[in-house]
Amino acid sequence: MSATAKRTVTVTLDGTNKSTSLPLLSGTAGADVFDIRKMYGDLGIFTYDPGYGATASCESKITYIDGDVGILEYRGYPIEQLAENSTFLEVCYLLLNGELPNPAQSAEFELGVMRHTMLHEQIRSFYNGFRRDAHPMAIMCGVVGALSAFYHDSLDINDPESRRISAFRLVAKLPTIAAWAYKYSIGQPFMYPRNDLTYAENFLYMVYGVPAEEYKVNPILSKAMDLIMILHADHEQNASTSTVRLAGSTGANPFACIAAGIASLWGPSHGGANEAVLKMLSEIGHVDNIPAFLADVKDKDNHTKLMGFGHRVYKNYDPRAKLIQKACHDVLAELGIKGDPLLDLAMELEKIALSDPYFIDRKLYPNVDFYSGIILKAMGFPTSMFTALFAVSRTVGWVSQWQELIEDPQQRIGRPRQIYTGPATRDYVPMSKRG
Ligand code: SDX
Repeated sequence: MSATAKRTVTVTLDGTNKSTSLPLLSGTAGADVFDIRKMYGDLGIFTYDPGYGATASCESKITYIDGDVGILEYRGYPIEQLAENSTFLEVCYLLLNGELPNPAQSAEFELGVMRHTMLHEQIRSFYNGFRRDAHPMAIMCGVVGALSAFYHDSLDINDPESRRISAFRLVAKLPTIAAWAYKYSIGQPFMYPRNDLTYAENFLYMVYGVPAEEYKVNPILSKAMDLIMILHADHEQNASTSTVRLAGSTGANPFACIAAGIASLWGPSHGGANEAVLKMLSEIGHVDNIPAFLADVKDKDNHTKLMGFGHRVYKNYDPRAKLIQKACHDVLAELGIKGDPLLDLAMELEKIALSDPYFIDRKLYPNVDFYSGIILKAMGFPTSMFTALFAVSRTVGWVSQWQELIEDPQQRIGRPRQIYTGPATRDYVPMSKRG
């Protein structure tokens, strides 16, 4: 279905006889939107919405979030049901194609992805140009953007077949690129992908495996990895997805658009938060220090944030945080880690924060990043790889949203306006006349 206009919103400029009626559009679920495209022509005014907190940038059929209730659905399927019953590659098919695959479609899609997991041998040389201590996200920005130099056969964004093959290449190659960034940082040989492993198993194999001995994938860890990837796969028009859409709206090739998304995700307010949560927990150190830390958070002059808490959309518990917290316990139990001090500290911090009026009044709850770092650390992931894993998982969401943008007849180049408050027109002052 498409958005339908049943009612209108009238905007009147007081003190004038100017007004305009704007269509009020309704979708399947969620807030209605009023279409302001003709407002500047009718009234000569723009809207003003720094951070786009109240602005719908597009019509989308991919992901639905109800932040007040804490609902997340991919193509209408609740995240809880997908987490319980699906796999990451099945979710990739769903996000890219709109429906769950039948057995034949599933087998064909999985083979298609697994057949594109390798990288051109020349790409190995890129890694040698980085310092060994380069952040994996810096490497991923560079290597993913450079993929467009290798796939001249699939850069025509208006060709459906080019879009399809680029989608396969990006979903398939991101784990290899991320795993090689980790291997490069620790001076170990790159591990080539294996087509006899599942997507999550393959990623663990390329991260932890070494040529010197056989690597047995722990099924509990690969199941937890698959779940983490499902939970991070897409999330409506978040900052990095909006970055991908804006880049895509100019006609940039898909590899450049995804590289832009990776750069945007890196920020600590966004995908970089999982790394920041671990740093925060380490700095707090002990439950006895929680009250002093929260006092810092409440003192605005400190600019200290409770990382992993709060969300632009969720004003309730992020459903992904609940699912990851449960997986945390399963993984720690499987690994025989009795009472991970970081998890104990995080749970105590959550309990205290959720009973504190400062957080209650501002509707600040744990988001997806609050627990993801803990489970990844327990799985042996270095903190610097947390956001890289987020990027691996979110690539299918970015590509799905990019595809939807390219195929949307309403989409034009993204070009926000502004309200100008700088100096009024003035004449140039020669140097001799400046004070
Ligand atoms: C992700 O958009 C997405 O969908 C993103 C994401 C995805 O899957 O793509 O869900 C992934 O990015 C999750 C968020 C990860 N980031 C963090 O955990 C960093 C910590 N969180 C904050 O930086 C913040 O909550 C944001 C950036 C996430 C949201 O910022 P907003 O929208 O500006 O926050 P808000 O309007 O809800 O804030 C209301 C009040 C403000 O205080 P007052 O001015 O009213 O006094 O709450 C305060 C904020 O300063 N506040 C916090 C806080 N988050 C908001 N105070 C302390 N600690 C925090 N974490």
